[in-house]
Amino acid sequence: MTVHFIGAGPGSSDLIPLRGRALIAACPVCLYAGSLVPDALLEHCPEDARVVNTAAMSLDDIVGEIKAAHAKGQDVARLHSGDLSVWSAMGEQIRRLKAEDIPVSVTPGVPSFAAAAASLGTELTLPGLGQSVVLTRTPGRASSMPEGESLANFAKTGTTLAIHLSIGNLDNVIADLTPHYGADCPVAVVYRASWPDERIIRATLETLKDALDESISRTALILVGPVLKGEGFDESCLYSKDYDRRYRPQTADSPWSSWSHGDD
Ligand SMILES: C[S@@+](CC[C@H](N)C(=O)[O-])C[C@H]1O[C@@H](n2cnc3c(N)ncnc32)[C@H](O)[C@@H]1O
Repeated sequence: MTVHFIGAGPGSSDLIPLRGRALIAACPVCLYAGSLVPDALLEHCPEDARVVNTAAMSLDDIVGEIKAAHAKGQDVARLHSGDLSVWSAMGEQIRRLKAEDIPVSVTPGVPSFAAAAASLGTELTLPGLGQSVVLTRTPGRASSMPEGESLANFAKTGTTLAIHLSIGNLDNVIADLTPHYGADCPVAVVYRASWPDERIIRATLETLKDALDESISRTALILVGPVLKGEGFDESCLYSKDYDRRYRPQTADSPWSSWSHGDD
């Protein structure tokens, strides 16, 4: 018996890796994390599967469900939205399951920041504008931030920020970022990326507050940084005609001329 943690993706039911879908179809028990996991994904569960929404359950209750499945030798599909590597609460569950000697596997999913960037048709790293992406959040009612992980600190880098779980904290986000990025820095808010009711709001730090309305109060990502201009960046060397590289040596003297694919 194994508990398969599966990234269920950002919302659209076809944005799940084949491995995750196959595991859902193979498990007699499915525990899924609330409304961010689309119903259409649950249709992959076997007809007689036990399917439980864990949104209102405590960690003890969730582990209790898993232990009950374990006692029956039943595999469990454990679905969390997006990818499991960020804000999935997988860590605390795995810690409990390890203590119970219950085996686990982890199957990644499409994270919401990637779905949001796709909806914007934007690369989040553009030469000369931004070469890093900081996935972060602001403190919430139930979660403080470790010292040093303040928005103002990340803002000092000037790079692209993908701010999660913070649409309700907009005033602070704008106040913390404006001194570093400038009031005219482009921002995009993507609400429910990949869902049928997805919305995209493009603004600047200065105009963002007025550009949003109260209907966008959760499940939104705030993307900030010069890359969102989508212009004014350099071409990468990767496809440059003159750039000497492994796959396209420019001269017979190139160190890459004698390289064969087997070397790498
Ligand atoms: C608990 S976190 C889950 C993050 C998730 N594990 C991931 O990989 O993106 C929930 C936050 O992720 C962001 N989020 C999740 N799904 C989203 C979507 N479809 N569109 C926009 N933001 C989303 C929002 O900032 C939301 O407040």
